[in-house]
Amino acid sequence: MNPPFENRQALHAFHDFEPADKDDFRTDVLAGLGRAQKQLPCKYFYDEAGSKLFDQICQLPEYYPTRTELKLLADKAAEIGDLIPEDAVFIEFGSGSSVKIRIVLDALHNPAAYVPVDISREHLEQSARTLAADYPQVAVMPVCADFTERFELPAGTPAGPLNGPRVGFFPGSTIGNFDPAAALDFLTWKADLLGPGGGLLIGVDLKKDASILNAAYNDGAGVTAAFNLNLLRRINDELGGDFDLEAFAHHAFYNAAAGRIEMHLVSNKLQAVHVDGKRFSFEKGETIHTENSYKYSIAEFHNLAAQAGFQAVHTWTDADDLFSLHYLVVG
Ligand code: AVI
Repeated sequence: MNPPFENRQALHAFHDFEPADKDDFRTDVLAGLGRAQKQLPCKYFYDEAGSKLFDQICQLPEYYPTRTELKLLADKAAEIGDLIPEDAVFIEFGSGSSVKIRIVLDALHNPAAYVPVDISREHLEQSARTLAADYPQVAVMPVCADFTERFELPAGTPAGPLNGPRVGFFPGSTIGNFDPAAALDFLTWKADLLGPGGGLLIGVDLKKDASILNAAYNDGAGVTAAFNLNLLRRINDELGGDFDLEAFAHHAFYNAAAGRIEMHLVSNKLQAVHVDGKRFSFEKGETIHTENSYKYSIAEFHNLAAQAGFQAVHTWTDADDLFSLHYLVVG
């Protein structure tokens, strides 16, 4: 059995900003289904079942981003470690992947603290405890917050571990799930949070042949379809919805003009659905837009980063130019 959370030597107090609750989900779902183009925010994919499905997506042969980024991190770990300042306070936005953070922590020189930021309390508590046990020399300071919204880091003591240079870690190309204006806003406030001398290690999926992109979001095993449809199941379970999951189909395609994969759920027939006592009608073929996943060229991403106040120090790509990893500094 694990010892109580507070008893781990390297594990610091859990800072809970009490992010998103059920009322936010209800408000966002009702507003999104009421729009002319129905839409649902993709952050709601990640309940327990959705997170498990996403883990399965990351293992799919068609879904290249996860394994490509992992290999890049492993291959370039020494270079990455040398670029990041000693005594860094390493802040991971969305601490989903403990595999990736371990590669980086192993490569860093003397990191002062690791601050995992995640919306899921249980997941955060569990992974922080495990990392604190495996990296006793690093202060692990978990923060429960919605990393898509502004928050402040808990104040450190004057000589405490939160006073080193701050370096953010945002792997997985999650930046692609923001629309360009939101991505700029997100990066701009990250530059504020990280401050002068701060850095950001960020994974970004690259523009490429549409056939590779379309395959990655339409896998043969149907896991991405199940991930997409799980959002309707979640609405049924948590908001008393009556979506018939058989009456909607997964549809994902690369929209070249917008530079993004779009995921939709298509109504197979004329139907009405109720959520929280409200009625929503669907034409046959009408869709709910559930996700965008923007793809960037290296130049496009550097331009976005520059607008947000970052300078690109180094960019790594794999041999097939599928994925990019950038080390940016503030200023
Ligand atoms: C989390 N995010 C970067 C994934 C993506 O590729 O946009 C989410 C995903 N959606 C379908 N497959 C994976």
